[in-house]
Amino acid sequence: MQAVDVNIVEEIARLKREKRAIILAHHYQVDEIQEIADAIGDSLELARRAKDFEGDVIAFCGVKFMAETAKVLNPTRTVVLPDLDAGCSLVDCCPADQIRAYKELHPDHVIVSYINTSVEVKAESDIICTSRNAVKIVNSIPAEKPILFLPDMNLGNYVKQQTGRENMKIWQGACIVHHTFAARKLATAKSEHPNALVASHPECPNEVLKQSDFVGSTSAIIEYCVSNPAREFIVMTESGVQHSLKKLAPGKEFYFVPNENCNCSECPYMKRNNLENLRDCLETLQPRIELSDEMIRRAALPIERMLAVK
Ligand code: 13P
Ligand code: SF4
Repeated sequence: MQAVDVNIVEEIARLKREKRAIILAHHYQVDEIQEIADAIGDSLELARRAKDFEGDVIAFCGVKFMAETAKVLNPTRTVVLPDLDAGCSLVDCCPADQIRAYKELHPDHVIVSYINTSVEVKAESDIICTSRNAVKIVNSIPAEKPILFLPDMNLGNYVKQQTGRENMKIWQGACIVHHTFAARKLATAKSEHPNALVASHPECPNEVLKQSDFVGSTSAIIEYCVSNPAREFIVMTESGVQHSLKKLAPGKEFYFVPNENCNCSECPYMKRNNLENLRDCLETLQPRIELSDEMIRRAALPIERMLAVK
């Protein structure tokens, strides 16, 4: 972690009090943000926290689709995001007009959208899922109904394997971070650390998941590594999860395998947020998420359907 400017931390604490704000941070945020956040979590946990918040301002330290979800679930709050360009490759590969065209051609298909989609795509969807509940959500849909699962092909393939669902089409989108984790590099890491268990995010390719002892969301990976009696883990997700892993399991060793794109395991979108732009957005309440009432109404339906699945 970089040396932190104490003044900026104090300024953020003051602004938070003055604006009646909460800071929600995803596990992939820089350590300095996770350190001062009111809650750290995966996309499902953060959506629930946002929905239940009773103050005035949600400062969402994550990417834009997560902040949009917070606004949809709690529309009377002001939702700010430190950098509006904190996007996601999965959102980019799945434009709403293509989903509308697909629905016209296949009106019988149930559209199951991963939460990593734009609010416009959510508004076209029947139900949303996250990496934590995707298998459960697909299992909640009657077996005879054909499904379009979008946009992550690796998560889609994993869900298809786990549910045995034959009538499920899968959009061919991918995460620029997880999709480029190579099975070959994981095999090398396993030979270097023969006692380590492998925990992977389901956005990784099937060849990586096949070599894994556990597959789950970011929070589920952390829970697995903390509760499992093993001492060493190879972690196939974004390296921001180290922050919680080091705190919650200080005696254990965690190894991260660099991906093929940048030789790191960092999400460039998540890393656009920092203490400076977090302070600025709390000060100015900009950039903020603005959505029409109609968009909120349409996108809320499939998200609420997800939250209702037990
Ligand atoms: P989680 O739902 O596990 O937080 O994943 C979100 C994400 O963007 C993973 O790349
Ligand atoms: Fe999107 Fe991948 Fe970054 Fe997650 S890690 S926000 S899926 S680009």
